[in-house]
Amino acid sequence: MKIQSKSKKINKAWLQEHIQDPYVKRAQQEGYRSRAAYKLIQIDEQFKLLHANQSIVDLGCAPGAWSQYISRKQKAFRANSVSPQNFLVGIDLLPCEKIHEMQFVLGDFREPEVQQHLVELLPNHTTHLIVSDIAPNFSGIAQVDAWRMEDLLSLTLEFSKQCLHINGKLLCKAFHGTGFSQTISQYKKVFAKVKEIKPLASRSKSAEVYLLCSERK
Ligand SMILES: C[S@@+](CC[C@H](N)C(=O)[O-])C[C@H]1O[C@@H](n2cnc3c(N)ncnc32)[C@H](O)[C@@H]1O
Repeated sequence: MKIQSKSKKINKAWLQEHIQDPYVKRAQQEGYRSRAAYKLIQIDEQFKLLHANQSIVDLGCAPGAWSQYISRKQKAFRANSVSPQNFLVGIDLLPCEKIHEMQFVLGDFREPEVQQHLVELLPNHTTHLIVSDIAPNFSGIAQVDAWRMEDLLSLTLEFSKQCLHINGKLLCKAFHGTGFSQTISQYKKVFAKVKEIKPLASRSKSAEVYLLCSERK
């Protein structure tokens, strides 16, 4: 009984915070599927990740807010270009409602065949930008969750080595805590620049950060 009332309190607090969250309100007004859009928007505004004629991969894309933002920008780029060559593919374990000019792969990114399929979809088997907000379903067992996240981050790095253009960039979610420093050292072996970013839209109490990786070695 006690546990139940504690979890009810937490749910109530979460709901209250969610309702009052300015990014939740903005997402509703601007037609984004989740507040997560503003994390990518803020990073893009600061670091200018999105350009015309880019091929982009969105890992862990559902429900689709990041891809919606990318698709909207690509639409604007297309309108201003004579021979546009934008491409967007997203992948998730969960279904993702259709997004304009986006290809969607339903599958588990950890599966080699799924990664191979993604690479085959890419024009010239190359991408200019990989964005990843992928995160496992958290079990609540810290060690297990840290290990699952580390695994996804190391697979993301291997995937980048396989298909990221030499001048391409990788933006991926990571979490401070167990395994974080190992992940950073692993990434620094592949990229000369690995910058840690905490966009305003990322809740301050969350251990979540984003790694912006560029200058492939
Ligand atoms: C935080 S959500 C992404 C939100 C997304 N960026 C957006 O803007 O809507 C993380 C996503 O990663 C997905 N995911 C987790 N593990 C995965 C895996 N092994 N393969 C594919 N997707 C995975 C989850 O299903 C979830 O939809």
